[in-house]
Amino acid sequence: MPADTTVVIIGAGPAGMSLANFLQRRGVSCVVLEMRDRAYVEGRQRAGVIDHRAGEIFAEFGLDGPVAAGGPVETLLEIRTDGVPRLLDVPALAGGRPSRLVPQQMLVQRLIGTFLDGGGDLRFGALDVTPHDLGGDRPRVTYRDADGGEHELSCDYVAGCDGFHGVSRRSIPEGELTTYSFDHGIGWYTVLADSPAPRYPLMAVSRHGFAAQFARGPRASRFYLQYRPGDDPRQWPDEHTWSQLRLRLGDESLPAGAITGREVVEMRSFVAEPMSYGRMFLVGDAAHIITPMGAKGMNLAIADAYVLARAIIDGDGLDEYSATCLRRTWDYQEFSRWYTEMVHDAGDDSVSGPFRRRLALARLDRLFRSPPAAAAFADLMAGTEVSRASP
Ligand code: APR
Repeated sequence: MPADTTVVIIGAGPAGMSLANFLQRRGVSCVVLEMRDRAYVEGRQRAGVIDHRAGEIFAEFGLDGPVAAGGPVETLLEIRTDGVPRLLDVPALAGGRPSRLVPQQMLVQRLIGTFLDGGGDLRFGALDVTPHDLGGDRPRVTYRDADGGEHELSCDYVAGCDGFHGVSRRSIPEGELTTYSFDHGIGWYTVLADSPAPRYPLMAVSRHGFAAQFARGPRASRFYLQYRPGDDPRQWPDEHTWSQLRLRLGDESLPAGAITGREVVEMRSFVAEPMSYGRMFLVGDAAHIITPMGAKGMNLAIADAYVLARAIIDGDGLDEYSATCLRRTWDYQEFSRWYTEMVHDAGDDSVSGPFRRRLALARLDRLFRSPPAAAAFADLMAGTEVSRASP
């Protein structure tokens, strides 16, 4: 006989571990199956911001302290245009709703620790995880453990929280999903360096291209540099990286620190509709990916997990899960595209053309001249309310 639980959660990233904790706090049984080991999952560095809305969600489940605390509150955002700095007080513009800097690996570590301390059932190294009977009343999930032992769980619901490359979305029969993919045609070279944190999170647009600098603790920074299509920044000597950063940030005195990590990010977006099939619900990156502009990826995962948890806990709203989450997903996709276009078009006009550069500079300028425009921007940065869609 398969072991029983209410929800099998596939994947222990931000989506899966948020959902697991929400359910645990309300006494709903769940089992989390994660194919990697604990060290891998807890060490994966990606997103870094919990928006205000996500903070409220954690607070609703009493997880604000154990999970979301400690990160300094993000206050001013500096946008530097051709070397000229301007500051936006994003939390104030959003009506006093600050976001927090909480690196993804720290959030995931805390979510895992809290769940396990509460007696949660989290199984690392679960291989060949396969959902079955998703269209029926009692789905099953099978997997193999590291010693080759075969296991089967039966449940009421399967939560597919296994990221873009996971098995959940692939288990949905062909023809049941409509997918939307978009390549923004923009690449970033990101480097982690032993370089003092900037005073404020910093984005710079200039004719040399887009660059950004964010704190990673007091003595380290993560830098982002747009690169031209066809270029391979992994071949750049470090001295070239530093000279590009100085040019783009308009800061001749930026010290060159040791570069401890390098990555290339291609800006892509993806959405799968609907975000459910039978008794399986897709949560987070399993259903959608978004560009890093606006820092909404992890927050979307947390917000999806919240909608699903509430519907399961309340026994009401599962039919609307997909429509509710897609409404916010498309809203954030639009925001992220708008933001991406603005800061990249405003730079090197050999990529976007001089007309689009002028449009993008006008958009940027509007943020500093028009309080309603700035408030709309800040509202999305803080995260929008999760309103329930009608079926
Ligand atoms: N079986 C079990 N676990 C799996 C499987 C599988 N077949 N495939 C993937 N996983 C696990 C991965 O190892 C990972 O730990 O699912 C987890 C998915 O986590 P994420 O990819 O981080 O996705 P999600 O939880 O939706 O979080 C999305 O994280 O990285 C960011 O930009 C992303 O900020 C966004 C957020």
